[in-house]
Amino acid sequence: MSIQIGDYVLKSQVLLAPMAGTSDKPFRTLCREQGAALTTSEMVIIQKHLLNTSKSKHRLDFSGEPAPISIQIAGSEADELAESARQALTYIIDINMGCPAKKVCNKAAGSALMQDEDLVKDILTSVVNAVDIPVTLKMRTGWNVSNKNAPIIAKIAQDAGIQMLSVHGRTREDKYKGEAEYETIKQVIDQVNIPVIANGDITSGKKAQQVLQYTGANGVMIGRATQGNPWIIHQINHYLKTGKKAPNIPLNDKKQTILKHIKQIHQFYGENLGTQLARKHIFWYATHLDKKNGQTFWKKVNKIKDHAHQYQLLEEFLQQL
Ligand SMILES: Cc1cc2nc3c(=O)[nH]c(=O)nc-3n(C[C@H](O)[C@H](O)[C@H](O)COP(=O)(O)O)c2cc1C
Repeated sequence: MSIQIGDYVLKSQVLLAPMAGTSDKPFRTLCREQGAALTTSEMVIIQKHLLNTSKSKHRLDFSGEPAPISIQIAGSEADELAESARQALTYIIDINMGCPAKKVCNKAAGSALMQDEDLVKDILTSVVNAVDIPVTLKMRTGWNVSNKNAPIIAKIAQDAGIQMLSVHGRTREDKYKGEAEYETIKQVIDQVNIPVIANGDITSGKKAQQVLQYTGANGVMIGRATQGNPWIIHQINHYLKTGKKAPNIPLNDKKQTILKHIKQIHQFYGENLGTQLARKHIFWYATHLDKKNGQTFWKKVNKIKDHAHQYQLLEEFLQQL
């Protein structure tokens, strides 16, 4: 079942989730290489006074990335989000109603917007009308267990011209607690004809297949399971295509991928910021490859401030695996 968003036909059913602090340009590039059909940027708040900050510049840099590119915008008001969409013009605009952060710029945003269905309708209509590129929506199942209104919002979204939905199987109040449920995602799918992507706690090819079969979703979106393990995208794709587990990825290939990724972080952000931002990836990689010694290694490498020294210690750690 291929996923179509506007003119774009996605090459697989596996998408990378937008993750602030993780799905930056180096990580998106890596996940596309691993077979992600679509990657979405970290959320950006496109307001004039924020545009010149180093954070926004990095978040709005899509140069050299293969199409389609999806940029996620966040905000609280219809006009403001429509203006963000106009300025962000890329290939696909994704609207954030999935993030549990209490406030963005001191106002209700992200999944908090789901509480006000009229406002949702206003926002979605304004953004869709503001641009002539596809607009998609990322949301949760509702704002708490008694108010799982994702199916209602899905219908509003389709009527407003939204071209794809991704749904995380938790409510806003759940934050990341408990387990994701897929029943509400199934109900969303019953309401609409546009593609729906299931998200939440999908950590293997088998789980991805079960979720697809149970919900009837068009694809899956993977978030935390990719941290330190971007190869999971390839593995899930392989399982969905063949029904079999993918052969293990040779350790040497993983090592090369990790070093290339860390080098790209240093280059993209510059030596100082790059060294800081590489730390969490190094932690995830080290503990993914070696649970016990990875922790000890990370305690040592976490203190390093020089990018070349950080890279060298990582290289040495990988060599002895
Ligand atoms: C560190 C982190 C940052 C996130 N940032 C965003 C974001 O900016 N926008 C958004 O819509 N969702 C965000 N999410 C939610 C993810 O996109 C995803 O819905 C959630 O992690 C559940 O999927 P998973 O179980 O595969 O991780 C974030 C999640 C994490 C862990």
